[in-house]
Amino acid sequence: MSEQVFEATIAKDQRIEPRDWMPEGYRKTMIRQIAQHAHSEIIGMQPEGAWITRAPSLRRKAILLAKVQDEAGHGLYLYSAAETLGADRGDLTRRLIEGRQKYSSIFNYPTLTFADVGVIGWLVDGAAICNQVPLCRSSFGPYARAMIRICKEESFHQRQGYELLMTMMRGTPAQREMVQDAVNRWWWPSLMMFGPPDAESPNTAQSMAWKIKRHTNDELRQRFVDMSVPQAEALGVTLPDGDLRWNAEREHYDFGEIDWSELKRVISGDGPMNKERIANRRRADEEGAWVREAAAAHAAKRQGAPA
Ligand code: ACO
Repeated sequence: MSEQVFEATIAKDQRIEPRDWMPEGYRKTMIRQIAQHAHSEIIGMQPEGAWITRAPSLRRKAILLAKVQDEAGHGLYLYSAAETLGADRGDLTRRLIEGRQKYSSIFNYPTLTFADVGVIGWLVDGAAICNQVPLCRSSFGPYARAMIRICKEESFHQRQGYELLMTMMRGTPAQREMVQDAVNRWWWPSLMMFGPPDAESPNTAQSMAWKIKRHTNDELRQRFVDMSVPQAEALGVTLPDGDLRWNAEREHYDFGEIDWSELKRVISGDGPMNKERIANRRRADEEGAWVREAAAAHAAKRQGAPA
């Protein structure tokens, strides 16, 4: 009976809520995806956070500070969504630190210049929006609702990145070179964010059937390429792909072969910054332990206190 209700809810495009019956596989998939997403937001604070103290002006510092704080907010929001499924936040963090849960490959690349901050906004947040707007219609209610707010903020982040790059492109030849160099380094990793090709994506078919995912990895990657080419032209940068050209028959841009061995390497922990990212996360967790203990003791005391 419960299974029939679940299937009917999915078929009618309605939402599954935390107290509804759901197959164990659905619960596990949702916890996996939401946790991976939350970890990405929290680890994703590091590459840009590294530039807060080195931002070129007070205005840029204030913008960057606010953006990195937004990412923390997204992470906490998503951990709350995972908790509605019975997951424990501390346990999820331990799994991340011990390498038992993943986070997005993209955050394992270094940010070498301030142009990287702009390119992360433009390309990385652009790719995140492409992937996450359809998730606003994901079948699990708390995740879909979280995505609405997160996408609004991500759109704002993308614009600030593009505006930063526009400003640099109007600057000196050295600044323009810096932007091009950052684009060269981030373009291919941004395409990898969408995950392995459909033929090698073990989770897509089931996640599509459960309406967790609304599009395949390759569909969203193509959408991102189509969206980015005119933006690159407007900016005056060259995307580092000699095979990139409009295909009138397909009405999409063709693009070159992605180095999938690089994605595999980065996901398995061997990217340029994996060790540093996890070491920082571990340190933050250890150094924050006393705050969590104090907050829990305070809450317990208040509960025990007379009204
Ligand atoms: N980085 C790290 N791991 C990845 C990536 C990536 N770019 N792409 C795929 N994977 C992992 C998957 O998590 C899965 O691992 P698991 O089964 O051990 O958990 C494996 O590779 C195979 O991939 P898929 O079968 O394609 O997995 P899935 O159906 O979950 O699709 C995707 C992957 C598209 C990332 C999906 O999980 C998703 O849409 N997640 C929500 C968005 C998100 O997490 N964004 C984070 C970055 S954006 C940001 O924070 C700014």
